[in-house]
Amino acid sequence: MSALLEVREVTKAYRIKKGLFGRRFFYALKGVSVDINKSEILGVVGESGSGKTTLGKIVLRLEEPTQGKVLFRGEDVFRLGKVYTRKVSVVFQDPRSSLNPRMKVREILEEPLLVHGIDNREDKVRKAMERVQLPVDFLERKPEDLSGGQRQRVAIARAIILKPELIVADEPTASLDVSVQLEILGLFMGLRDEGISFLFITHDIRVVERIADRVAVIYGGMLMELGSKEKVLKEPLHPYTKFLLSNVPVRHPRERKEEDYREVIYEVPERGCPFAPRCPSYMEECSESVRRVQVDGRSVNCNLY
Ligand SMILES: Nc1ncnc2c1ncn2[C@@H]1O[C@H](COP(=O)(O)OP(=O)(O)O)[C@@H](O)[C@H]1O
Ligand SMILES: [Mg+2]
Repeated sequence: MSALLEVREVTKAYRIKKGLFGRRFFYALKGVSVDINKSEILGVVGESGSGKTTLGKIVLRLEEPTQGKVLFRGEDVFRLGKVYTRKVSVVFQDPRSSLNPRMKVREILEEPLLVHGIDNREDKVRKAMERVQLPVDFLERKPEDLSGGQRQRVAIARAIILKPELIVADEPTASLDVSVQLEILGLFMGLRDEGISFLFITHDIRVVERIADRVAVIYGGMLMELGSKEKVLKEPLHPYTKFLLSNVPVRHPRERKEEDYREVIYEVPERGCPFAPRCPSYMEECSESVRRVQVDGRSVNCNLY
């Protein structure tokens, strides 16, 4: 049985200016392959700058891959027309910026239906509100009159209104308090059980632990490890996965200190393993190349195996 979505050897190079002359390429993704089955949540986890959003954008066709392909039910998504936008929708991190502040909730939910010329809009809008557990009188409100969690429920209602098969969720709970975060994650899991698949992007391995069926760990634009949640999080093989698991922050968001948020940008070498400069198991060959192997039911890109 083939997967619902297949990302095959996707590379994304951004052209960047370097110095006075010369152009250089920055590889946001390097040969990434992942797949998502029906009714499955694939958690994509990695630190800031690892390429997660780029992967999401390519799956959404907001960016074209430099190399490689994305297949939906076996077909190249860049050859599928408008039908793909019905089948695949998105929930972003910050509903404050992803929802039009001038529109009422009703208009926000009706918009995709209008774009696709779909009738029975009132009925569909009400059902979507019900599904995300928002009262129908919220339809007359604007996003600014809602809490962060309620706004994210509106974003989810809009994402499900066309009955998609896949939702790309990019850090959808990162701006929410923990208790609200848990409610929203529960909503996603319910939708998964109803048959929707997810590409669920997060920097937070605890979120992945809670919600994902399978996990893809990425760093420096490369896939480090891909497998079932049980294998990857309970018996991690890649040194980077082990590192992520050892760094799980324990503080409540309200008690977090500034240093918890400070973004650290690590130099990623052009060749070999991107994690090599930070890896406790570094070997000379890691600066040159990385072996890709299947071990214990998962893919691992590491010269240790
Ligand atoms: N349009 C762009 N041009 C150049 N570099 C980019 C562009 N978009 C993203 N990048 C770079 O690609 C890397 C991956 O970014 P991103 O996919 O947003 O990572 P993440 O979502 O994991 O934080 C980052 O180093 C980022 O600066
Ligand atoms: Mg991102």
